[in-house]
Amino acid sequence: MLSPTIEKALNNQVKIEANSSHLYLAMASWAETKGLNGTAQFLYKHSDEERMHMLKLVQYINERGGIAEIPALEKPEASFESLNAVFQKLLEHEIMVTGEINKVVEICLNEKDYTTHNFMQWYVAEQIEEEALARTIMDKLHLIGNDKGGLYLFDRDIQSLSMAVEKNV
Ligand code: FEO
Repeated sequence: MLSPTIEKALNNQVKIEANSSHLYLAMASWAETKGLNGTAQFLYKHSDEERMHMLKLVQYINERGGIAEIPALEKPEASFESLNAVFQKLLEHEIMVTGEINKVVEICLNEKDYTTHNFMQWYVAEQIEEEALARTIMDKLHLIGNDKGGLYLFDRDIQSLSMAVEKNV
């Protein structure tokens, strides 16, 4: 059985993951309207992954005798200055999420809920990957600068970039 403190912390994380999914959906849609189809597909997939992160939490809360709250969502920004601005925001957002995950982990230790602490380790590992991927993308974009040919190739190759980071190659 979850303590009310843990239940609240996990439900807060449900909201954060749901808002992440929503934000990346807005970014994907923006990229699609700019003809950046590779980037759009990458971001649609990322949005789906965030929904999966949310779902995993919802099901864990309910399985452990808590009640998952399905939250209202914040309206994300609809337009972005550039591709660079999109991924800078994504990186900053993931750094924020990592901080929130760490807070949940700390609460688990304070509450001596080692089962939830164990469950949260999946999120700790996932955040390392997500931040690494966002940083790799920002490094590429810095290299490309305003080079149109470079941006074209970036958009074409972004899918393989995400797979490479996942496989650590
Ligand atoms: Fe679910 Fe990107 O953090």
